[in-house]
Amino acid sequence: MIETIKWTEQGVVILDQLELPAHEVYRTCTSYEQVADAIRRMVIRGAPAIGVAAAMGIALGVDRSPAADAAALEKEFNHICDVMAQTRPTAVNLFWAIERMRAAFEETKGEGVEAVRRRLVEEAQRIHAEDLAQCAAIARHGAVLLPAQGRVLTHCNAGALCAAGGYGTALGVIRGAIEQGKQLEVLATETRPYLQGARLTTWELQRDGIPTTLITDNMVGHLMKTGQVSCVVVGADRIAANGDTANKIGTYTIAVLAREHGLPFYVAAPFSSIDLSLPSGDQIPIEERSPEEVTHIGSTRIAPENLPARHPAFDVTPARLITAIITERGVARPPYQQSLKALAELPVSAAL
Ligand code: MRU
Repeated sequence: MIETIKWTEQGVVILDQLELPAHEVYRTCTSYEQVADAIRRMVIRGAPAIGVAAAMGIALGVDRSPAADAAALEKEFNHICDVMAQTRPTAVNLFWAIERMRAAFEETKGEGVEAVRRRLVEEAQRIHAEDLAQCAAIARHGAVLLPAQGRVLTHCNAGALCAAGGYGTALGVIRGAIEQGKQLEVLATETRPYLQGARLTTWELQRDGIPTTLITDNMVGHLMKTGQVSCVVVGADRIAANGDTANKIGTYTIAVLAREHGLPFYVAAPFSSIDLSLPSGDQIPIEERSPEEVTHIGSTRIAPENLPARHPAFDVTPARLITAIITERGVARPPYQQSLKALAELPVSAAL
């Protein structure tokens, strides 16, 4: 199993996704600042993985804090949470994880600094373990939706590398279907400009022996039109209450093409990616990253000097283009306003 991130005595150990696929390098973050920097620079990326990393970063910061009394520790805790919250804006899992850590802090703060430290480390490890279990449940719920044979198109990386490890979300659904004996191949878009598909999805699927073909993003329409795609499965960074879904830039285009060609378009995500506080996708903040990620591939410039470039890192797919949203609590179908709310109200014990 690919281990994306783990808690150790030495610090938070992260598989460096900037080095993949050429090198499999694990980095040990020994301070919360290093974890925040790893999230910002996309050493670790993908919505659920960002949430786990933020939780571990907060636990690490509190565990290593010199604060000797409750007031000093609370001040430091709030500062660490602020630093984490400023790393990346779109994936709501980050803010969800910070809130989980805040609740754990509030519960134990009256019991002394050592109790708080222990509790936050436990909470971060719990979030990590839950993520693995949630992805396995997403795989179970989603596998039945895929055809007995065919070609599944996915965008960006929504696999083990975007989660705590294990199945991942969208790739978990594909892994689950293959485990059920379905004869599936994967079409992975390269995912310009950051190339998560070319570098990461292909790497992890090849390791699992899942037949995978790499395509450039602008081949999707042609392959759909010529009958070479059976369905689409992608992950999510934030899903609004009405089902509108923010995911990697280019997802919206694929969803429009899927509708045009009558193909099912599935979103797979844990409930920590669902933001019921937002009525629609219009309110989802879209991260704008460095134009250099567009003008360069790696460190090589491919565009003229002094050329303006844009890099909105995510787009929002309207709910009406989404066939179903697969979560660890079950599968939501339109109208999502009702179906997501119903799943959210399930007792936690029934969720996995
Ligand atoms: O910018 P990234 O690589 O963090 O974006 C990741 C995505 O958009 C993924 O598709 C999404 O987080 C789902 S990951 C399970």
